[in-house]
Amino acid sequence: MSFKHIFQACLMAPFASLVTSNPISPRAKTDSFSESQKLADPKFGPIPGEDSIYNEYYGVEAPFPGYLRDPVLPTEKGAPGVDDVVWQNLLSAEWIIFDFYQQAVEAFNESAFIQAGMPNNTYKRIQEIRNNEAGHLRIFQNQISPTSVKPGACTHRFPFYDPISFLALVTVLEISSMAFLTGLVQQAKLPASQAAMMTIAEVETRHEVWTLIEIWKTNPFGGPSDTVFPYANQVLDTTNGFIVPGSCPKQNPEYPSPRQKLPALGAAKDTKSLTPGSNIGLSFTDPTNQPDFDKNTQYYAVFFHGLHNVSVPIDTTSWPEKEIRVTIPAQFETKGVIVAALADTPGAPTKENIVAGPGIILEQPAELAVKLV
Ligand SMILES: *[C@@H]1O[C@H](CO)[C@@H](O)[C@H](O)[C@H]1NC(C)=O
Ligand SMILES: *[C@@H]1O[C@H](CO)[C@@H](O)[C@H](O)[C@H]1NC(C)=O
Ligand SMILES: *[C@@H]1O[C@H](CO)[C@@H](O)[C@H](O)[C@H]1NC(C)=O
Repeated sequence: MSFKHIFQACLMAPFASLVTSNPISPRAKTDSFSESQKLADPKFGPIPGEDSIYNEYYGVEAPFPGYLRDPVLPTEKGAPGVDDVVWQNLLSAEWIIFDFYQQAVEAFNESAFIQAGMPNNTYKRIQEIRNNEAGHLRIFQNQISPTSVKPGACTHRFPFYDPISFLALVTVLEISSMAFLTGLVQQAKLPASQAAMMTIAEVETRHEVWTLIEIWKTNPFGGPSDTVFPYANQVLDTTNGFIVPGSCPKQNPEYPSPRQKLPALGAAKDTKSLTPGSNIGLSFTDPTNQPDFDKNTQYYAVFFHGLHNVSVPIDTTSWPEKEIRVTIPAQFETKGVIVAALADTPGAPTKENIVAGPGIILEQPAELAVKLV
């Protein structure tokens, strides 16, 4: 197994370069378009919070509504709901996460995790997380008003090869979801939307804590606050690396909306450590989308951790001939995640100030971070 690949996954951006190497093929589309349209009725099918399918279902086949993969067309004319775009972004992201777990449920079984040295209930827990994510699909569909399309599923591919590389990705993706929701909640206008998003972040936190305790046998506490990163769509954009190009339903809105298409940011291949105080080289992992640095502008690497950010000036004048190097702020605790982005202004006060990234740097568990290098 290649830990180098998972290490790159810790800075989510390089996913794009990995998606073609995954041997696990995506699920075939089996549903019919007309069946999916029934999802317009929030009372259709099992109701999240009431039905055990979203908790204790131990089948391999995708649970409701995960097999109804077509977009759900609007059933009413009129203005979109105030938070529809935010929920559409979240639903498209949820299709990626749901498929991530569903593909693992299909690829592995109970013995695969036991043979990898994991607790004997690991496969069950993965199925239960998969079920929770199916519930998220349904919850987000219901949050989008009848005047807007509910995005359907694209075809997704993930860079995992075996149970351990899958579980490493679980830990990265769950904590990334937690950080990304701190940004998305700031886009929602209705307090009820904000509360609903908070409940989802809490569920992702439970998943994360389960991996820390049961899988990595580590202290689950992540410091007094998790990390806020306000530009949620930039995080979502990095997950486009999981989407097979051209595979999205044509009725889907652009994902994410709006999309900045920033150059992906990663760490150089020879990186030995990503803990605070480490000096690392930066890499821009998508050869078709490289940054365009202005010779007369001072750029910064802005690191977000907890409720704060720290800006470190970087030398871009000799790039690309000379690698850009930066030291991860030593004052941060080795907990949770650090989100890194390059900006043309200290603190990146607006999303337009960001010129590359973000990359998500996993800090916990430390053993995993070391192995991943
Ligand atoms: C798990 O999968 C392996 C490999 O495909 C197979 O040999 C084994 O019988 C399966 N175990 C169970 C419990 O289904
Ligand atoms: C699973 O593991 C637990 C804890 O190690 C053990 O008590 C239990 O007997 C095991 N169950 C099975 C079915 O092997
Ligand atoms: C980063 O921190 C600075 C100083 O506290 C603050 O002004 C700025 O808004 C923060 N940036 C973001 C994106 O939150």
